[in-house]
Amino acid sequence: MEKYAIIGGKPLMGEVEIGGAKNAALPILAAGVMTDDIVVIENVPDVRDTNVLMEAMESIGVKTEKISRHTVRMDSSKITECIIDSDYMKRIRASYYMIGALLGKYKHAEVPLPGGCNIGVRAIDQHIKGFRALGARVEIKNGNIIADATELRGTHIFLDKVSVGATINIMMAATMAVGKTTIENVAKEPHVVDLANFLNSMGANIKGAGTDVIRIKGVEKLHGTEYAIIPDQIEAGTYMVAAAATKGDVLVKNVIPKHLECITAKLLEIGCSVIEYDDSVRVQGNGILTNTQIKTLPYPGFPTDMQPQMTVALGIAAGTSIVTESIFDNRFKYVDELISMGASMKVEGNTAIITGVEKYTGANITAPDLRAGAALVIAALAAEGESTIDDIKYIERGYEDFDSKLRALGGNIERYASEDELRRARLKLVQ
Ligand code: UD1
Repeated sequence: MEKYAIIGGKPLMGEVEIGGAKNAALPILAAGVMTDDIVVIENVPDVRDTNVLMEAMESIGVKTEKISRHTVRMDSSKITECIIDSDYMKRIRASYYMIGALLGKYKHAEVPLPGGCNIGVRAIDQHIKGFRALGARVEIKNGNIIADATELRGTHIFLDKVSVGATINIMMAATMAVGKTTIENVAKEPHVVDLANFLNSMGANIKGAGTDVIRIKGVEKLHGTEYAIIPDQIEAGTYMVAAAATKGDVLVKNVIPKHLECITAKLLEIGCSVIEYDDSVRVQGNGILTNTQIKTLPYPGFPTDMQPQMTVALGIAAGTSIVTESIFDNRFKYVDELISMGASMKVEGNTAIITGVEKYTGANITAPDLRAGAALVIAALAAEGESTIDDIKYIERGYEDFDSKLRALGGNIERYASEDELRRARLKLVQ
């Protein structure tokens, strides 16, 4: 029952350090099982999703050791089985990356079927299509995906839909297939490129990641490596928008500004000042924010994982803004919470129509999912008065030290787990 208590209205000021990308760390950890040698991965964010995936890997015999908070040493030489328990899938959807990794190396994987989730249907037909094209037999039995092959063979695959997960899973499986694989219409997200770089550092032969077509020459064996994960584009974007919405001035450090270009462009459009340095960006939320239109798209388009945060900023921007969600079918659940904070918004299908209000007011709200939860925290920090945010377990899936990083920027936020702790947290909040 962990919650945040927040008193808003104070501009965020100062510097924040961004961690490694969660969505790169998950497939990279999974791909680490594809060698019997030692793999050392640096810049792994210490968040629930990565920690649960490591538990899932331990359960099949992988030895994972945290050499430091963000450095993981993996030894997969004694894997005992290729079956992931359904408990892990319930806790972390991305454990389905174990299918591509285990099928690639051991030609067998049994992983529970991921169901829908809070942001809508999340089909995996393209993953299955890719595995089958590589020669695997794939069946769904008792809620599990069972993939099996005597040998995987390189082939030509055209994805019907741009999917990050399918691109990653098929790329992993094809890495150790016999011959050449071409995957067309792939996702180009920075974490797809990061996984390809990681696999190449283990001896894979993957070209074209970051473009529409990935070409893979299968190799027989992968070797150990030491690799550092890229900075988290979405964590960075979240702090950028938090600076904008609270009319603050924040230097977001340890980022790749190129990965943030579409977020930067929208913040400039709504009247913020954004200055790019080599590996940091400074965002100042000057004066009144103004309206804009946003449509979420696969990279390099505006990321769906930044949609709720930007909607929060647009809710207090002058004029009418339109936000269209084109990736997921149920990603506006948080709008009702914002309305309880005084927002003027309505959702029609996959579009939110937002009439900017002067300010939000504090309320007791609940995080519906990871990114929407972070967005509601931003709303509460910008709001007048006190808010509490329930179900922060979702936020903690993907943001390391969210409350303490925000506190370091002057945010009036405390985390508590009981009514007693809330009373103590209230005393700490600057009234
Ligand atoms: C990943 C990210 C998630 C992000 C999303 C889109 C991770 C762990 N998660 O999710 O944070 O919001 O990319 O950038 O990296 N689809 C199909 N068939 C498939 C696969 C997907 O129809 O086989 C559909 C999905 O239902 C969805 C869309 O394609 O509507 C995009 O999904 P996808 O890119 O696969 O997202 P994930 O990899 O699940």
